[in-house]
Amino acid sequence: IKKIALLTGGGDCPGLNAVIRAATKTAIIKYGVEVVGFVNGYKGLYNGNIMNLDMDAISGILPRGGTILYTSNKTNLFRMPFKENGETIYKDLSDVGVKNIKEAGIDALIIIGGDGTLTSARDFARKGVKVIGVPKTIDNDLAYTDITFGFDTAVSVATDAIDRLHTTAESHHRIMCLEVMGRYAGWIALEAGLAGGADAILIPEIPYDINKVAAKIQERRAAGKDFSIIVVAEGAKPLSGDMVVQKLIEDSPDPVRLGGIANKVAADLEEIVGLESRATILGHLQRGGTPTSYDRNLSTRYGKAAVDLVFSGKFAEMVTLKGNTMSSASLEEVIGKSKNVDPEGEMVNTAKSIGIAFGD
Ligand code: F6P
Repeated sequence: IKKIALLTGGGDCPGLNAVIRAATKTAIIKYGVEVVGFVNGYKGLYNGNIMNLDMDAISGILPRGGTILYTSNKTNLFRMPFKENGETIYKDLSDVGVKNIKEAGIDALIIIGGDGTLTSARDFARKGVKVIGVPKTIDNDLAYTDITFGFDTAVSVATDAIDRLHTTAESHHRIMCLEVMGRYAGWIALEAGLAGGADAILIPEIPYDINKVAAKIQERRAAGKDFSIIVVAEGAKPLSGDMVVQKLIEDSPDPVRLGGIANKVAADLEEIVGLESRATILGHLQRGGTPTSYDRNLSTRYGKAAVDLVFSGKFAEMVTLKGNTMSSASLEEVIGKSKNVDPEGEMVNTAKSIGIAFGD
């Protein structure tokens, strides 16, 4: 191995630059090899858009959000959509990527991304490319790894938002509903809700009954607290069919990503409880900006471990964190497997034990 390439794909995430920095430094300092990066994720792999990653290129990027390699979403070279006679057909352009890797003299490729990006990583590995995957998602919902970098930052941004909403909620005697990211899994909502002292947490894993959430708020009012904080994961769903939520689902570009469910929760609670309610959708604030110190160090460990894997000669693997140990699992095994909040688990149990409602 003389030359390694890095690629970041899918949505960005705080800590990506720290992974790039650690992988580059490890490759140069520990193994004495050359490092390059494909620019704009798989688009750059297709176009042969390559930048040099030397010590100068990575200087100062540790605390920076985003990715200096840029990224592209929904670019799957194995299934690229084209319009032909008004119809969408899909073409496999992956051979162009393989050719570009060979022509650039790249011996191994480290691909940093979520499930979609890593599915293509596995497919390139099947074509004989020496690939290592690094898991990336602020949602922390990838199986086989305990914690993904970016999650801690998202939780800390959401916790800060809850703290800020508390003071305005209290001053106005209002119900404040904060929508956080998490299409399929409620990890950000659960951890930020717990850290911020929310009164109710609504997550995809526990469908909610709005009347039970309202009952929690009434209980607080009876105890003299006429404000409440509700944290809503964007993928939270009501227990029974609800026409308005059904419409949100239909209108959403992603069937499980409702985008605006907190507006619905706030409106319903205002009607049932009779307290003024407001919704805040935190959105991409959770993904932008500087990573926490925890995420910087986790990213550094992921980046270093990826390069170690390359030099161990073990390919088609994804770096994992198990307990406090960096390890790896086969890409073939990890793809398509998610990690969800356990409704009966210790975290939910702790939250319930201190009176936080889940609407179940
Ligand atoms: O998977 C990460 C994530 O941030 C989700 O929490 C969110 O639903 C989604 O990406 C947003 O994607 P986009 O930036 O494409 O709108």
